[in-house]
Amino acid sequence: MKVSRHASDVRELDQTEREALELDRTDPLAAYRQRFHLPLGPDGAPAMYFCGHSLGLAPVGARAAVLDELDDWAALGVRAHFEGRHPWYSYHERFRDCGARLVGAVPGEVVMMNSLTVNLHLMLATFYRPTRDRYRILIEEGAFPSDAYAVQSHVVHRGYDPREALCVVAPRPGEHLLRTEDIEAALEADGRRIALVLLPGVHYLTGQCLDMARITAAARRHGCAAGFDLAHAAGNIAMRLHDWDVDFAVWCSYKYLNAGPGAVAGCFVHARHGQVKSLPRLAGWWGNDPRTRFDMRPEFVPREGADGWQLSNPPILALAPLAASLATFDEAGMDALRRKSERLTGYLERLLRQISTTSLEILTPSNPPDRGCQLSLRVRPDARAVVGALEAAGVVADFREPDVIRVAPVPLYNTFHEVWRFARLLSRCLGPRA
Ligand SMILES: Cc1ncc(COP(=O)(O)O)c(C=O)c1O
Repeated sequence: MKVSRHASDVRELDQTEREALELDRTDPLAAYRQRFHLPLGPDGAPAMYFCGHSLGLAPVGARAAVLDELDDWAALGVRAHFEGRHPWYSYHERFRDCGARLVGAVPGEVVMMNSLTVNLHLMLATFYRPTRDRYRILIEEGAFPSDAYAVQSHVVHRGYDPREALCVVAPRPGEHLLRTEDIEAALEADGRRIALVLLPGVHYLTGQCLDMARITAAARRHGCAAGFDLAHAAGNIAMRLHDWDVDFAVWCSYKYLNAGPGAVAGCFVHARHGQVKSLPRLAGWWGNDPRTRFDMRPEFVPREGADGWQLSNPPILALAPLAASLATFDEAGMDALRRKSERLTGYLERLLRQISTTSLEILTPSNPPDRGCQLSLRVRPDARAVVGALEAAGVVADFREPDVIRVAPVPLYNTFHEVWRFARLLSRCLGPRA
C-alpha cells in the first residue's frame, strides 16, 4: 500500500520522541530486554516486536536450560530421573510455587502440563457434570475456536444438542465488548440450568479483561462452576484465582510466558476441589500419588491438588524453557511488570489517540483494569495492507479478520521508544486525518 505522511501528525509525534527516550531511561525494568533474543527486521536492526500475544520472544536462558537436560540425558540416561541436576521424576514440581505466584494461587493449585486445549478437556471432564435440569454452558459469542469446539464436543459427548445447551453471551448490538452486567443477567435469567461458565480472562480479539472475581461470584450465587481460559491473561495481568474462588483455569505458555512454540501449558484447580479425591476425572499414572506410582496398582489414587489431573510423565525438554522463563517472571515480579505494562500500553493509547483518524478505532477498553497490554485496532478500509506496510518497516504485529490489528507492547522486552516509533509509522500508514 501507499504510505503517505501526514505532516502535522508526524510533527506532533516528533516532539514526543524525547519523552519516549526519557521513559525508557527511567524504566526500572528496562534491563530485562537484554534477556531476550530480538528478531531482526528487514533493515537488519531489531524488529519492533509487538506479537507477545501470539508467541513471546525466546529468553536467552532457554537454550542453556534445554542443553542442561540434554546433557544430563547423555551423561546419566535413565538415572537422570533421580540424579540429574533437576531430577525429572519431580521436575514439574519446580513450577509449584512460581506457577502459583503467576496466577494468584496457593501452592498445589497449579500444575504445568499438556497444552491448553488438552487441559480444557480435562477440566471439562471434571467440572461439566450435567444433570437433567442443569446442563447448559455459558460461553461468549466469538469464543476462541478451540474453546468453542471443546465445549461443543463435551456437550455432544453427554448427549445434548449444542444449539440448546450453550448459553451464549454477546456484546450489545453496536458494541464489541462484553458487559459484566449482561453476564450476570444471563445467569440471573438462566442460572438454574447452567452447569458451567467458561469465559476468557482476557479476550483474544478485543484485548478486553473480564471481571473474573465478579463473574465467579455471580456463577457461584447460581450454583454454577466457573472456569477461565487465561491464554491471554497469564503473564499479562495480575490475578488472584484462589481468592476469587475460581473453580478452574487453563492457559498456554507460549504467549506472554515466553516458553516457546507449543510450550507446556498451565492448569489451575481450586484447593477446595484438589482435596476431593473422589472427583471424576480422566486419569493417568502421573496423576497418581507419587509415593505409590511405582507400586503399579490397578486402582488410581490421585495426588492431592492440581497434580492429580496429570496424565503422563512430563516432556522435560519442553519444560526446560518454561523454567528459564518463569525464573525471570519471579525476579521481575508480576506486580512490577503490570505497573510497567499499564504505563506502556497507556502511552501507546495516548499516541494513537493523537493520530486518530476515522480509519482507526481502538477496540480495547481504555480503563487500565479492563485490559492487559494488548490494544486491538480496527483499521479501515484495509487492515491487512496496513499490517503489510508495518511489517516492511520492521514491525511485528498481527492481523485478524476482517479488520483488526493486534499490538501488544510487552513490559519484559518492549520499550517506550519502540511504541513511539510504531505510532509514528502507523500515522504514516493511515495518512491524513479524515
Ligand atoms: C484464547 C485461546 N484459547 C485457546 C487457544 C488454543 O491453545 P492451544 O493450541 O495451545 O491448545 C489459544 C491459542 O492461541 C487461544 O488464544
